[in-house]
Amino acid sequence: MGSISEAPDLGKKRQTISLFSSLPPTPLDEPFSVNGAYIQDSHPQKVNLGIGVYRSEDGAPWPLRVVEDAEKELYDAKNVGRHEYLAIQGDRAFLQLAADLVFGFGKGKSSAPAVIEDPRSRVVSVQTVSGTGANRLGAELLARNIRPGCVWIPDPTWANHHTIWELAGVERKTYPYYDSVSQSFNFEGTIRTLSESARKNDVVILHACAHNPTGADPTREQWDALAKLCNAKGLIPFFDLAYQGFASGDADKDAWAIRHFFNDMHMPEFCVAQSFSKNFGLYGQRVGALHVVTRPAVHDVTQDLQATLCHLIRGEYSMAPRGGAEIVRTVLADQRLRERWFEDLTTMSQRIQRMRHTLYDELLKLKTPGDWKHIVNQIGMFTYIGLSEPQVLAIREEYHIYMLKSGRISISGLNERNVGYVAQAIDDVVRTT
Ligand SMILES: Cc1ncc(COP(=O)(O)O)c(C=O)c1O
Repeated sequence: MGSISEAPDLGKKRQTISLFSSLPPTPLDEPFSVNGAYIQDSHPQKVNLGIGVYRSEDGAPWPLRVVEDAEKELYDAKNVGRHEYLAIQGDRAFLQLAADLVFGFGKGKSSAPAVIEDPRSRVVSVQTVSGTGANRLGAELLARNIRPGCVWIPDPTWANHHTIWELAGVERKTYPYYDSVSQSFNFEGTIRTLSESARKNDVVILHACAHNPTGADPTREQWDALAKLCNAKGLIPFFDLAYQGFASGDADKDAWAIRHFFNDMHMPEFCVAQSFSKNFGLYGQRVGALHVVTRPAVHDVTQDLQATLCHLIRGEYSMAPRGGAEIVRTVLADQRLRERWFEDLTTMSQRIQRMRHTLYDELLKLKTPGDWKHIVNQIGMFTYIGLSEPQVLAIREEYHIYMLKSGRISISGLNERNVGYVAQAIDDVVRTT
């Protein structure tokens, strides 16, 4: 037994060495750190093209008008149960409307095999902590139960795909998504890589529309070929749907690839991670869903699958938050509010389109060296503008314009007041750096 006089020494040691003193280094999240740097900058002409959030013409956040209407309706209803727990699966009415929005159920005839009376019955849906949570839950489900050899992640991609699948413990491989010469989707590279190297039950991450960060999407013919390849090789498509309706202004059009896989290509089993952050402007409310499509089988697996998902949810966060999902449910369930939502989608997507064209026109006017057509050809919130990392750093240093070091810009940070300034800055760094 040690003497009493040793006790203070032990105490000192305890104070100097923390249990957490040798944590492995973690990468910075670039969009959020660029945003932090922008906030710190006091330059009067600073421009934020880093973070992926919608901004109105005056550079401010824009609560959708329809969301404000729904919030008022919910408030006036004074439902005494409004702060109660949800079911573990989530709000069932919300989930059905969310699945209808993705798959287009109830909209015209499906060409799904005739044995399926209701194609809805093939889809298991659970509410998640927005799109990130849906990606994470889907990764966990597949990692634990299917044990894929690897996940194929587009290069480049939304950086969080790597974090999510790393945490799920699945080996990550990439396929070459972007052709920097044509500044478009690298169809040949993608097909070649997956044909040669992907194995049965590997997962393939696909951005359903408005690819983040490039804004370059496959054509319909290319989607068709991707579906055939996944079918032939027994790959598991995992759609990330973060921009439905926000990309083109038309929620049906933006879900085309998923519906094609489901209805026309009869893709037996796949996942869809759905986010309502961008298309409802509900970023901080964390509204989303994971939909898992199951194959028509003799033994129906949907109940077991739902139980497994609920088990994972319960151990992770018990259930998703209810407030934002109630707003989305209120809008989607009411034809009048739905119409207003479509109008708001048009407002957002058209402003972004207008800014793409204005930036392009300004660069043409300045005769900026290079081909800038991709700015108007690409779709959604982001564009790979085509600046190198030193040019990105120079534009930040000299002009206080913030973007990701890959040259990804969020078009929604542009407006009539700053677009000329941004074009001038691009012109300058392209000529001098
Ligand atoms: C491709 C992609 N997937 C998923 C998300 C998830 O967003 P959230 O978790 O806010 O719904 C985003 C957000 O930027 C995204 O761009």
